[in-house]
Amino acid sequence: MAQDTQLAGKTAFVAGGSSGINLGIAKRFAAAGANVVLISRSQEKIEAAAKEVSTFGKPAIGIAADVRDYAAVEAALKRTFDEFGPIDIVLSGAAGNFVAPALGMSANGFKTVVDIDLIGTFNVLRASFEFLRKPGASLISITAGQATRASMFQAHVCAAKAGINMLTQCLALEWGPAGVRVNAISPGPIADTEGMARLASTPEAEARVKSRVPLRRYGTKDEIADAALFLSSDAARYINGAILPVDGGSGCGDGAGDALLGLGA
Ligand code: HXC
Ligand code: NAP
Repeated sequence: MAQDTQLAGKTAFVAGGSSGINLGIAKRFAAAGANVVLISRSQEKIEAAAKEVSTFGKPAIGIAADVRDYAAVEAALKRTFDEFGPIDIVLSGAAGNFVAPALGMSANGFKTVVDIDLIGTFNVLRASFEFLRKPGASLISITAGQATRASMFQAHVCAAKAGINMLTQCLALEWGPAGVRVNAISPGPIADTEGMARLASTPEAEARVKSRVPLRRYGTKDEIADAALFLSSDAARYINGAILPVDGGSGCGDGAGDALLGLGA
């Protein structure tokens, strides 16, 4: 197969890149020829991830930085810029989740998830602006269906991801004139991820989730990476402010209509 050179000469910064969906995206960026810099909280995990990403392309760099710490994020972005020049792609995907009813959640529990997901996304995207290639940069945040559909035991995640959707579109408005596109990917349930291990931890729960996906299966990390590569490519040059569902159609129905008719799971 011919080598993928879609992102040759470009630089990608991936926040929350030590595992799961975001690591899958980082590998795809590297395989398409980009220089890749990854951040996450754990020095050990991010160095291991960078090593893994390096096997797909050029040597990648892993930096320990918490997205809740603006100065640390800014320093990582500056290091990326100093090493490779203007940044072409920023992926903001760091997140935290646990399953708990609102009454089983302290104020700090709620705040922790909002801080990582929403404030973290603001920090990453805001701090990146001065280091971006302008015009031309592509910024992608990672949201979820919970942003637009209320979900039991996910008040913190629903609130945080709803904020990410609106933040993404506000930045698309403000930064479009500088030639910076800002979009979001909204993954459905993705196989072999920490997210689904937390949300559907038994085979029964997994089967229930799949039965609610029109395509009747989990998505794969590769399928999310495909979407991220597309949004970062020239083929998406007029796409700005989009919240792109990659969810097998999970977001199409509200479930209530099916329940009224006695259909569905
Ligand atoms: C209630 C909980 C809790 C739980 C933690 N807390 N777990 N409350 N039920 N199960 C509370 C703690 O008691 C504490 O409040 C507060 O949250 C902060 O906890 P810490 O452990 O100090 O936080 P921190 O070390 O910053 O860790 C953050 C974390 C953790 C989110 C709690 O789980 C984490 O590091 N997660 C990262 C990995 C992850 O979650 N990946 C999945 C992303 S998937 P008090 O009041 O006691 O101080 C995803 C899916 C979206 O986002 C949608 C999928 C369809
Ligand atoms: P994951 O493997 O746990 O990925 C989360 C990443 O964020 C990890 O690399 C983690 O690394 C990092 N991180 C967490 N807190 C951080 C912080 N404060 N600062 C910096 N990095 C931090 O989870 P995943 O399931 O692949 O989810 C990835 C993204 O997809 C998330 O945005 C999630 O909301 C979204 N999503 C997932 C699904 C799904 O089915 N899994 C569905 C919809 C949306 P460290 O622990 O090293 O910090």
